[in-house]
Amino acid sequence: MTRFVLTTIRAGSMLDTTLAPSFRLVAERPSDASRVEALIGRAFGPGRYAKAAERVREARRPSPELSLVAWSEGAAVGCVRQWPVTIGATPAILLGPFAVDEAWRGMGLGAELIRAACDLAAAAGHAATLLVGDESYFGPLGFAAGPARRVVMLGPVDQGRVLVRALRSCGADRLEGPVLPASSA
Ligand SMILES: CC(C)(COP(=O)(O)OP(=O)(O)OC[C@H]1O[C@@H](n2cnc3c(N)ncnc32)[C@H](O)[C@@H]1OP(=O)(O)O)[C@@H](O)C(=O)NCCC(=O)NCCS
Repeated sequence: MTRFVLTTIRAGSMLDTTLAPSFRLVAERPSDASRVEALIGRAFGPGRYAKAAERVREARRPSPELSLVAWSEGAAVGCVRQWPVTIGATPAILLGPFAVDEAWRGMGLGAELIRAACDLAAAAGHAATLLVGDESYFGPLGFAAGPARRVVMLGPVDQGRVLVRALRSCGADRLEGPVLPASSA
């Protein structure tokens, strides 16, 4: 069952149905930054700069080939950014911010963005993705707190919300240590 069917009623017509999916996932370009930032700002508000994950991201750029924007009719309606990091000595990916425009929520777009982002990271050879979020949402998408229990975020964080997904067999084994920006980032 597709969850992206839109029904629109336009002026002058009795009933006009437009079948979706009517969004495209595209790698984030530098020129998208202001629209993506606006979407993230609407979703999180100014409090997002206080998050522990921001300590890894501040003054850096997300990996352009691993960060995605969902576009619909010229509007950025969803986004996910990814950052190369190290966890102790192990290279990994930090995922976030991740946001869907309010009008598009509850249709599966968020899950689609996470799946596509993890597929891209896996195809690029990364072993594991880390994020800070709710296990009730991210658990069904393959993330779990258990393998992240010895992962140390820079800044206060609820350790139960630090989640990891292996991108290949054993990719999330023995993750231990501080999360730092990868030196090449
Ligand atoms: C989280 C977010 C990206 C999900 O986008 P989405 O496109 O609505 O996601 P999906 O359609 O895949 O899933 C929607 C379901 O997830 C649930 N859900 C959303 N956020 C959740 C959360 N934090 N914890 C648990 N469940 C959540 C919704 O209630 C909905 O449940 P339903 O299908 O039973 O109605 C979106 O709600 C958002 O942008 N929120 C504000 C920013 C945010 O919290 N980002 C994530 C931080 S890690």
